Amino acid sequence: MPGFGNDFETEALPGALPQGQNSPQKCNYGLYAEQLSGTPFTAPRGQNERTWCYRIRPSVKHTGRFEKIDLSYWKSAPNVDPDVISLGQYRWDPVPHSDAPLTFLTGMRTMTTAGDVNTQVGMAAHVYLITQSMQDEYFYSADSELLIVPQDGRLRFATELGIIDLEPQEIAILPRGMLFRVEVLEGPCRGFVCENYGAKFDLPSRGPIGANCLANPRDFKTPVAAFEDRDARSRVVIKWCGQFHETWIDHSPLDVVAWHGNYAACKYDLRTFSPVGAILFDHPDPSIFTVLTAPSGVEGTANIDFVLFRDRWNVAENTFRPPWYHKNIMSELMGNIHGIYDAKPKGFVPGGMSLHNMMLPHGPDQPAFEGASNADLQPQKLENTMSFMFETRFPQHLTELAANEAPLQDDYIDCWDGLEKKFDGTPGEK
Ligand SMILES: [Fe+2]
Repeated sequence: MPGFGNDFETEALPGALPQGQNSPQKCNYGLYAEQLSGTPFTAPRGQNERTWCYRIRPSVKHTGRFEKIDLSYWKSAPNVDPDVISLGQYRWDPVPHSDAPLTFLTGMRTMTTAGDVNTQVGMAAHVYLITQSMQDEYFYSADSELLIVPQDGRLRFATELGIIDLEPQEIAILPRGMLFRVEVLEGPCRGFVCENYGAKFDLPSRGPIGANCLANPRDFKTPVAAFEDRDARSRVVIKWCGQFHETWIDHSPLDVVAWHGNYAACKYDLRTFSPVGAILFDHPDPSIFTVLTAPSGVEGTANIDFVLFRDRWNVAENTFRPPWYHKNIMSELMGNIHGIYDAKPKGFVPGGMSLHNMMLPHGPDQPAFEGASNADLQPQKLENTMSFMFETRFPQHLTELAANEAPLQDDYIDCWDGLEKKFDGTPGEK
C-alpha cells in the first residue's frame, strides 16, 4: 500500500475489519480488537499514530514471564567504554561475513551508540551479519524504531502487520513495539541498522523545494495484512531499556488478521529518491540529500538524519564539486551500500563504514582534492555510487567491538597526509 504515514486499512479475510467503529462488542471471526499506540494519546493530530489490530489472540497471550538473556554484541547507549577513544576520524573495512549460524538477534553488532536509551534520545548504529532465519522466534524492540539498510543478501521481515521483503538499495522501517521474525531469503546477509531511540523518522520539510522530489511519499510501501494461525512452541525476545528478555508461548504471535491505522512498518526503494542540487555553482549542505529525519524537539536539530548519496549529475561551474572540508556539531556515521564514493575513491568500499564524530575535521583525501581541483568541469554523471549517513546531534561512542574487533583502518587519518601547503604569500591560483 503506497504512502508515508497514511491511514491504511487491510484485511486478510473478508469482513475481518470492523467498519464504522474500532471496538465492536463482538468482532467478526471471534477476533480480539487491540490498539497499538505509537505516540502518546494526546499527541497533536498531525503526529498522532496508532493502529487497530484484529487478531486471533490479544498480545497479552504473546508474552509470559520474562527471563533476562544476553546478546552481548548488541549494545545500547549510554555505552561509554573507558578503554576506547571515540575522538578521532575512523573508517572500517566491511565486517566480514561469518560462517556461524547467526540470526537477526545473534548477528547484530553494535558499532556506535549515542544519547541514552532510557530517556529516549539518540541512537545506535549496528552492522548485522545474518546466515540463519529465526525459527519459531520473534522479536520486538520497545526501545527503538529500527531503520534497516541491507548491503548484501535478501531478508524477509514477517511482521505483525504483514510481510516485507528487502534487498540492497532498499530500506525498511520497523516501528517501536512491533513484533516480527526475520528470515534469510538469500544469504549470507550483511547490512546496517540505525536504532532510533527518539521520535519517529519523518519526511523532511522541503521548504522552497516545494511539494515534490527527494523522497516522495508514494514510494513508501506498507504491507497488507498477513497472519499465521500456527501452534508451535515459540520464543519471543523483547529489547527493553537496553536489556534483552525472553518469554515462551505456544503459538505464532503474528496473528493479526486485519488492521487499520497509521502506525505501521514500511519499505522504501532508495533508487526512487530524487536528488536535488546546485545547477550553476557550489553545492548545498548535505542535508539536501535527507531521506528521513527524526526530530529532537529542537527545531532543525535532528536526533537523526538519514541522508543518501546516490548516483546523480554534477554540473556546477567553477566549483570544487566533492564535499568540502568540514567540521560539524553533528556526528556523521557513513556506510557504503554499493559503488564508489566521490570524496574517497579508495578505502571506503561497499559494506565499509566511517565515522566523523562531533567537531572533528574531515573532507576529501589528497587524490580527490587534486582531481577535483584540476578537473575539466563538464557535466558529469556520478554513477555506480550509493552511500548513506546516519547523522545525529549526539557524539557517537565506539563500542569495544568497533575499536578492537572490527576491521578498523589504522591508516585512515593518513589519507590527508598528502595535502600540501600551497600558500606562499603571492596571489594567483596554485
Ligand atoms: Fe561532514
